[in-house]
Amino acid sequence: TDRYCVFGHPVGHSKSPRIHTAFAEQFGDDIAYEAIEAPLDGFVDAWRDFIAHGGKGANVTVPFKEDAFRLADVLSSRAQRAGAVNTLVLGKQGDIYGDTTDGVGLVRDLQAHAAPLEGARILILGAGGAVRGVIEPLLAAQPAALMIANRTPGKARQLAEDFADLGETTGGGFDEIVGAFDLVINGTSASLGGDLPPLPDDLFADAALAYDMMYGNEPTVFLRWAAERGARTVDGLGMLIEQAAESYFLWRNHRPETAPIRELLRGEM
Ligand code: ATR
Repeated sequence: TDRYCVFGHPVGHSKSPRIHTAFAEQFGDDIAYEAIEAPLDGFVDAWRDFIAHGGKGANVTVPFKEDAFRLADVLSSRAQRAGAVNTLVLGKQGDIYGDTTDGVGLVRDLQAHAAPLEGARILILGAGGAVRGVIEPLLAAQPAALMIANRTPGKARQLAEDFADLGETTGGGFDEIVGAFDLVINGTSASLGGDLPPLPDDLFADAALAYDMMYGNEPTVFLRWAAERGARTVDGLGMLIEQAAESYFLWRNHRPETAPIRELLRGEM
């Protein structure tokens, strides 16, 4: 049995064990996948202990993505850009490979929902780690423009600058949002506290899609607000499943079907 896990703090409510176990069933892979709550200052020790006991790879979630970034011996270029690692792979020689699958996960889920991407005007709300992790794959989808808007405008400007070589990217405060967008992605953690960033009422273009990187049993405040303004709405559950599928592929070299797992998890919520 090859062991995998997700490291987080807290991690008790993680759906990753459920998702990866279902992936393994698709292939008849003999794996075990568990959630491990590492101490806040003990991520590296927890990883070492895990591989000493048969661990072959891990997912990494809040707050350890930067620790995992520093731990990896080799980083993918997308992880380097993101400054974070959500997937660790143990190589045959004991070397540690770090990658991030959050961004491709988001883009795959957007594609699964036929979201406007190529040639679209995209607005992303927030400028924290979660947003940094998805900008490169979003720009790879060749939108006409990507605006990053954040409560702290300087962080959005910096982020836009960091990715300016990859596409038409601007950053600023919520009060600098101008025009209508085909796709608006909420990457702030505001939803957690039930807050809504101050957004202009005419934010959405015709047939726009509103996407929240968060998910829950109820639609987030942002998605409720967007639905009231005529946008189609999608939450982040599919992103979670897609990033997991990409991690699974990195570990096992075959790509699970995500559609049945979407059905499964929706049914359980
Ligand atoms: P994460 O890893 O989830 O991205 P983070 O790096 O702490 O976490 O970033 C949180 C993001 O949510 C930031 O963009 C933050 O805005 P600031 O950069 O101004 O702090 C945003 N955010 C958090 N609470 C918010 C709120 N109540 N309203 C608007 N934006 C909020």
